[in-house]
Amino acid sequence: MSRLILPLPGNETFARLLAAEGGWSMVESETRRFPDGETYFRILSEVKGHAVDLVCTLAAPDDQFLRLVFAADTAHRLGAAEVTLVAPYLAYMRQDKVFNPGEAVTSQTFARLLSATFDRIVTVDPHLHRYPLLSALYQIPADSLHAAPVLADWIAANVAAPLLIGPDEESVQWVSGIASRIGAPFEVLRKTRHGDRSVEIAMPDLSAHRLRQPVLVDDIASSGGTLIEAARQFSAMGLPRPICAVVHALFAGDAFALLSEVAARVVSTDTVAHASNAVSVAPLIARHLNTLPLRKES
Ligand code: R5P
Repeated sequence: MSRLILPLPGNETFARLLAAEGGWSMVESETRRFPDGETYFRILSEVKGHAVDLVCTLAAPDDQFLRLVFAADTAHRLGAAEVTLVAPYLAYMRQDKVFNPGEAVTSQTFARLLSATFDRIVTVDPHLHRYPLLSALYQIPADSLHAAPVLADWIAANVAAPLLIGPDEESVQWVSGIASRIGAPFEVLRKTRHGDRSVEIAMPDLSAHRLRQPVLVDDIASSGGTLIEAARQFSAMGLPRPICAVVHALFAGDAFALLSEVAARVVSTDTVAHASNAVSVAPLIARHLNTLPLRKES
């Protein structure tokens, strides 16, 4: 038995990188929409007795979910020894409690549905805030890998005298880890969120770091509101434009264009395919998959 890599549409480039890193073969599949909008899915390669790693980043989960389930069920039915979801970006992590009466706690529901479909999940930097571990949400083995070292190495190689900046308290885990790896100072801003796209950022006194290049680090750029507002504050205070480094480049709507106007540069990992991708997490994921025991012999 060996590992096989099965990409869902849109994930082929990342899947090929992963397969090349691990020395694994790709699974061929065919999928299309019927005229009425339903999904057709077919696996064309032999998967019986193998560990199938289904690669699908979940930046647009609602559009992809049913195909994901059809693919996993098909691999199981064809005799795959185990089916792992490799989702470099894992969606539905932020609505993790009831903020207003009557709301869906979507992180719990999504975790239940994926847990019923896959044998294991491997992801990168899920947005863990109120849940300390992914295993508190998921009922199957759920492995969280960390992109901070990958981003840290990019910053060390490309930015002279960086000052790491976290845009809010939740970013401390990423920014402090990167700062300690590359021996740079860090500061954390204070964020107040007023709505999906509306945030207010309070800046500390950064005058002691005037000669350093600010690097704003966050896990997700979603609406982009957080990074755009933080970057605007740097200009308003006469500080150098920040470089923005994010793990997951979702960048809804015109967020990337707006951020590019106020940032010196925007870089991201390839957990979500985007023009800002500067560094790949495929080697990180391949190394992890290589450590997983294969469950059954064919
Ligand atoms: C929130 O706490 C996260 O760390 C990100 O700062 C946030 O999700 C970014 O969202 P947006 O780009 O919509 O401001």
